[in-house]
This record gives sequence, C-alpha cells and structure tokens, in this order.
Amino acid sequence: MILSAGDISFSYPGAGPALSGVSFSVAAGERVALLGVNGAGKSTLFQILNGSLKPAAGSLSLDGTPVSHDRRGLTRLRSAVGLVMQDPDDQLFAATVAEDVSFGPANMGLSAPAIRERVERALAAMGISDLAATPTHMLSFGQKKRAAIAGVIAMEPRILLLDEPTAGLDPRGVEELMQALAGLNRQGTAIVIATHDMDLAWSWADRAVVFSRGAIAIEGRTQAVFSDGDRLTALGLRPALVQQIGAALVETGAIDTIPRSLADLVALIRR
Ligand SMILES: Nc1ncnc2c1ncn2[C@@H]1O[C@H](COP(=O)(O)OP(=O)(O)OP(=O)(O)O)[C@@H](O)[C@H]1O
Ligand SMILES: [Mg+2]
Repeated sequence: MILSAGDISFSYPGAGPALSGVSFSVAAGERVALLGVNGAGKSTLFQILNGSLKPAAGSLSLDGTPVSHDRRGLTRLRSAVGLVMQDPDDQLFAATVAEDVSFGPANMGLSAPAIRERVERALAAMGISDLAATPTHMLSFGQKKRAAIAGVIAMEPRILLLDEPTAGLDPRGVEELMQALAGLNRQGTAIVIATHDMDLAWSWADRAVVFSRGAIAIEGRTQAVFSDGDRLTALGLRPALVQQIGAALVETGAIDTIPRSLADLVALIRR
C-alpha cells in the first residue's frame, strides 16, 4: 500500500459527520472507482487523502510513514498524491492554461525545458494544446475540466485522485482522458476515480468502493461489487448497462461470460 487511511472521521464546521470510520488504502498501479450518491462523502475523502482537510480522528500514512499536516508533511504527501477537484474553478488560478499547467512542475524545481516538456505533454494528452495561451476564465466548462486534469497529470504523481473527471466532458474528451489515464496506469500510477458513471466504473475499475452516508457500504473487486444489483439499487445506484445486457445474454445462453466493455459485448454478439 502506498497510501493508507485508517478509521477516518471528519465533520465540516457546524455540520454532522461527513465521514465516519472510513478505512481506505491504495496500492501501486491500482484502478479504483469510488461510487455513491450525492453527499455520500467521496469528495471529502479525496480532500482528506491529499491533506486539504485534516481528519478529526483516524490515521493517514504514505509509504508506511504517518503524514503530518505541517508544511513539510503536506509537501511530501502532495508530491505523491495528485487531486483533480470536482469543480475546475476550485483548481485553476493562473492567467493562462499553459501558466496554470506549468505551476506544479515549476514548484517541483524542474528545469525550464523539463517544465515545458511536461506542459506540452499534458496539454496534448488532454487535447487542449491549442488552448495553451488562452486565459483560463475564457474557457468553457469542459475545457476548464481538461485544463485542471492536465495540471495534475503534469506533476506525474504516483497516485492520481480524480473527482468526477468525466462530468461535463464531450465523448472525445472522455476518450482522451481515459487514454491518458491508461498510459499513466501502465507506468504504475495508481488511479482513483470518483464517479456517478456506473458504465465507466464497470468497464474500467479493478476495485469498486461504494460510499453511503459517510461510510463504506460495499467494497471489493468490481465484478463482485456490481453483482448485487439489489444492493446497489438500495444504495441509490444501478448496475452498468453492458453488465445488465451481458447478464441477460448469459441467461439465455447466447454468451458465456459478462463482458466489461461495449466493444467486447458487440463482438460477442456478432460471433
Ligand atoms: N464545504 C462544506 N461545508 C459543509 N458541509 C459540507 C461541505 N462539503 C460537503 N459537505 C457535506 O459533507 C457530506 C459529504 O459531501 P461530499 O462532497 O464529500 O459528497 P460526495 O459524495 O462528493 O457528493 P457528490 O456526488 O454530490 O459530489 C454531505 O453531507 C455534504 O453536505
Ligand atoms: Mg463530490
């Protein structure tokens, strides 16, 4: 485990508990989906994991060493754990896209050519090279989202936390994002995505963690978590479409196993 949170509790000032007794760990190279209805606690956990929020109780450790919430501890944590926030307006702050994306690499003390290379690569990965000189306040929502993701990717963290990264992206944007994430994942980056897109979670995640009312309700291999449709429905979610169609076809004997992607499903039906 690279990052490990144990028995975390947290409340926002003047509010009831947002997280209670949550234990969550991430291993190198994992692909994890965080699921759960609005207000379940996903974004709060992400902010605990990158040190933006300090837990009221519980432990947070990186590479087996407890994280301290002083400047040095947070620098160590954030050099390993990158968070793409749910709202890009919370993330973007520099005048132009290129300046914003270069901020992280510059802060890491990289040379000017290395910074330039990181920025160019991250912008290309998110399909926004043509927006490099555009003021961030002149971007559309989806363009802002892409820029915010590029800014975190450019730092090449070992763990990438993405809070609803596909929300507001057009189909090609989703495709480019997932390709960029696949490339990082192949190099060993652990990726955790909080999402309401059950189809994306089904096709992409190795492991799924379902939050409900500030606690973990179900977790395990994605196939196992998604196999109990009634339980998901009771938690305000639903099984994935490819999974439901696949399960019906398995029942009728048309195919043997439930596919993970639409492309696989179509190929199985055609065969
Ligand atoms: N800044 C805040 N101040 C007070 N309460 C907050 C704040 N942010 C979140 N909460 C509360 O904490 C709980 C968990 O919220 P959180 O944003 O973590 O949920 P989420 O699972 O990310 O939801 P969503 O799917 O809508 O993004 C909710 O009850 C919410 O009302
Ligand atoms: Mg959220």
